[in-house]
Amino acid sequence: VAMSHWAGLLSTAAKVILLVLVVSVVFSRSSLSDRVPEFALTKIEESDIKDDSGKEPVTEDDADPEDLEVFYPTHQWQTLRPGNAVPAGSHVRLNLQTGEREAKLPDSENGKSDTREERRRKRLGKVDVDSNSFTSQELKKALAKMKESEKAERKAHEEEVRKKFRPIEQLKEEFEKLNVKMETDYEIMVKLISKFNSSASTLDEKVAALYDLEYYVHQVDNAKDFLSMGGLQLVIDGLNSTEAALKEHAAFVLGAALSSNPKVQIEAIEGGALQKLLVILATDQPLAVKKKALFALSSMLRHFPYAQQQFLKLGGLQVLRSLFRQKGMETLYVRVVTLLYDLIMEKMLLEDSLHGDQMEERIQQYRQVKLVPAVVEQDWCVVVSNLLAMPEHDTREKVLKTVGVLMAFCKERYRGDQALSSTLSLLRSEYEELAAEEQREGDKDGYFKELLGSVNTIIQELR
Ligand SMILES: *[C@@H]1O[C@H](CO)[C@@H](O)[C@H](O)[C@H]1NC(C)=O
Ligand SMILES: *[C@@H]1O[C@H](CO)[C@@H](O)[C@H](O)[C@H]1NC(C)=O
Repeated sequence: VAMSHWAGLLSTAAKVILLVLVVSVVFSRSSLSDRVPEFALTKIEESDIKDDSGKEPVTEDDADPEDLEVFYPTHQWQTLRPGNAVPAGSHVRLNLQTGEREAKLPDSENGKSDTREERRRKRLGKVDVDSNSFTSQELKKALAKMKESEKAERKAHEEEVRKKFRPIEQLKEEFEKLNVKMETDYEIMVKLISKFNSSASTLDEKVAALYDLEYYVHQVDNAKDFLSMGGLQLVIDGLNSTEAALKEHAAFVLGAALSSNPKVQIEAIEGGALQKLLVILATDQPLAVKKKALFALSSMLRHFPYAQQQFLKLGGLQVLRSLFRQKGMETLYVRVVTLLYDLIMEKMLLEDSLHGDQMEERIQQYRQVKLVPAVVEQDWCVVVSNLLAMPEHDTREKVLKTVGVLMAFCKERYRGDQALSSTLSLLRSEYEELAAEEQREGDKDGYFKELLGSVNTIIQELR
């Protein structure tokens, strides 16, 4: 992953300088930091930057896992050492004099805003920090793992890349000759935002700026910076642009920034993003625009009961329902059903995942989200079960799962549904055959056997 990022960046952007390469390793999109909102793993390879000897740069590859350190930021800037794991929310900067990366705790803007933020957080139901926290031990382990896989990747690609690209030292020399300043993610985002915001930019340039921004805002800390720079509000405003391409890419950036990022979720809903996304979904728009709007909507709603409640109040469920009456929107069906499934499960699983005070508060928030009654009232039971007639197995898999959870509320509706019972019979014979074949090929717990199991469970429940 790391190496292909290097390669990709090297080939596409001369403007992206060495530091960005390092940072892209650090904040690689597929790294742990995407999945774990509360911590970013930072890996610094200063040795790569500093080594002037022209020899093979010393890397951290062979570090013993026990040597890896979790960095505990204070309110002062402290220099990061190679291999330091930095808790998310820390401010990280590049000291341009020394070339070293430094980190510290973020300043609270002022005393008041902290408590206001606290209160708002309570009201809006911010996803809890603790359930996602990592112990330093876990951080170390994760970091060691990252290093291991990076090492393997690096070995595999080293030769290939070496053939294609000049060695880092040589590049660095050339950059130095050109006296190009190394840019941080922060600086790059500032530039991209002003490109997007400038009236002098062409449509293509704006779209390109959004396209690049989408890459950066995946990283939790970058998304927070994006917010404080005013970029979030700009992309929210971009959602009602008259240009389809801008709407599409603004929704894409928004969805990426929202993913697992409670702070952004709160700001986005206050900035009016929910209404704008629903307008896109409810009106006549190109499929590509709706697809990205649905993506952003999903990121907005997941694990954010306040947004779910607003969504229901604004008639969001009817808007999604209306997609099923529009032509050419078939590719959105399964995404909508998946979103519904996730939201229903999220509420159901809540009680297993939290403890004590937290749990009381969360349950209270989710209690306000009356999703299931609305689902039943709008007859989603049948909208969902009709999708079993779709030909793709993975679509059916998701629909079967959703029908499974809806069973508790839709049973009566399903019992009287002749079309459903014949579809289920057809699916059963199809999957009996495929499961048998799978077994003959030696796959005992195969995919089709599982699908057959889901079909049979539903048939039994309808007896
Ligand atoms: C966008 O441009 C407007 C007008 O030039 C300016 O007032 C605003 O501050 C800019 N917003 C950001 C986030 O840069
Ligand atoms: C988008 O909507 C906001 C308010 O809802 C409005 O201020 C803004 O001018 C609109 N932008 C465009 C391009 O229509």
